[in-house]
Amino acid sequence: MKKGKILFVVLAVTVLLAVPFRNREVRIAAARAIAGEGMLRLVEDAAECPRVALTFDDGPSRKYTPMLLEGLKERGVHATFFIMGKNIEGNEDLVRQMQEEGHLIGNHTYNHVQLNRVPQSLACEEIQKTNNQIYEVTGVYPSYIRPPFGAWQENLELCVTMLPVFWDIDTLDWKNQNVDSIVKIVEKEVKDGAIILMHDEYQTTVDAALKVVDMLLEKGYEFVTVDEMIVM
Ligand code: NI
Repeated sequence: MKKGKILFVVLAVTVLLAVPFRNREVRIAAARAIAGEGMLRLVEDAAECPRVALTFDDGPSRKYTPMLLEGLKERGVHATFFIMGKNIEGNEDLVRQMQEEGHLIGNHTYNHVQLNRVPQSLACEEIQKTNNQIYEVTGVYPSYIRPPFGAWQENLELCVTMLPVFWDIDTLDWKNQNVDSIVKIVEKEVKDGAIILMHDEYQTTVDAALKVVDMLLEKGYEFVTVDEMIVM
């Protein structure tokens, strides 16, 4: 088949498989009619690959983030970085590199404030200031925020249009600072759709994160950024 035709078929099958209001049998029959058995299997296999999202909070770090970015690039893996406003200044090159290499950049407030413990005006300022900094460096306003300590304030939607992103697997990397322990926690708790929490501020986290990537790629997992996890 020509490249254009293959693309059309893959798109058509993907749309058919994704349409939520039709039942599975109808969708599969339609996809089979359009694409044929082989192509259908190809698309289905791709859709059934379990997915995880690696997320790194509190950076960027001049010392550790470059090593992590290099390791992720070598492995062709994208992650999500929830960065702090106060760490952006002086590290603009790292933020730009994250963007250029296909990672998703999210907001982690300017000063790492617990958003439900400060007045709403300050919470909004912490978020907006960081959004503006990210925009100045990347030309894109972030849509996702990781609230420090996982603490969100309901009515914050009044001043910021952002989606808070929490996590499924807490590696406690900041606390244990132990490669084996981090890898073991992920190995034990990993499942399709899991969002993994880490901090790119420690050598042990960088080493563990890359081990986790190798381990999960080996197990057939696909690494996605949190926007891909939420949309699909
Ligand atoms: Ni944090």
